[in-house]
Amino acid sequence: MNDTIEPTNTPLKLAAIGDLHVADGDERRYRELFAEISEAADILALCGDLTNFGKTSEAEILAEDLSACKIPMVGVLGNHDFEEGQPEIVTRILCDAGVTMLDEQAVVVEGIGFAGVKGFIGGFGRNELGPFGELAIKHFVDESRNEARKLENGLRSLRTEKAVAVLHYSPVAQTVQGEPAEIMPFLGSSRLAAAIDRFDNVTAAVHGHAHRGSYRGDTPGGVPVYNCAQFVVQAQFGRPYALIEL
Ligand SMILES: [Fe+2]
Ligand SMILES: [Fe+2]
Repeated sequence: MNDTIEPTNTPLKLAAIGDLHVADGDERRYRELFAEISEAADILALCGDLTNFGKTSEAEILAEDLSACKIPMVGVLGNHDFEEGQPEIVTRILCDAGVTMLDEQAVVVEGIGFAGVKGFIGGFGRNELGPFGELAIKHFVDESRNEARKLENGLRSLRTEKAVAVLHYSPVAQTVQGEPAEIMPFLGSSRLAAAIDRFDNVTAAVHGHAHRGSYRGDTPGGVPVYNCAQFVVQAQFGRPYALIEL
């Protein structure tokens, strides 16, 4: 935690990519891409679903390819990284590969603050699921609130002039547009946007998860939101990673 405001002058380029879904047999799949990103950007944010099933072998394959990345890396896990029931092992392997994993932890890189969480589902705006009725619903909503609380705590610890929120689930409905309407509440939660909007130094939020969503949105408070799921960015720019000037 920093006590002084840290000014940032020259714009930095943030590369962001989510939903790599590295599976067994994917050796070297992303190595050249990480080398290219190192040339194109100053910092890389990994927006979750980094592995397909959260297997140790998948995380190790990704860690090998991350050795080609020569710029600072921050990241969060996605729901796929939890599938094997060992997210702490995936996290450790990625940390050992040089990624600062942000869950409940904020970090300052090149003068820019980064806070992040996986996030959770629950829906958006007036249609958000509330903590009413069955205990199972209340537990579900608690999980969503807890992720937003962790994000808020991380952002609060940052005294930088600029900060970025790194997520897997979307904080807004706009960037999940394009997905089937029936699954919208399973793609993110407005509670994440509420946490972001409590702070006036947040200049961008990046997320993944919505493979068929839209690239750009804004929080109700006006913070730009970028869906960096690789398939969305590929369709928009012809390359799988977003480049965002901070
Ligand atoms: Fe995904
Ligand atoms: Fe996901």
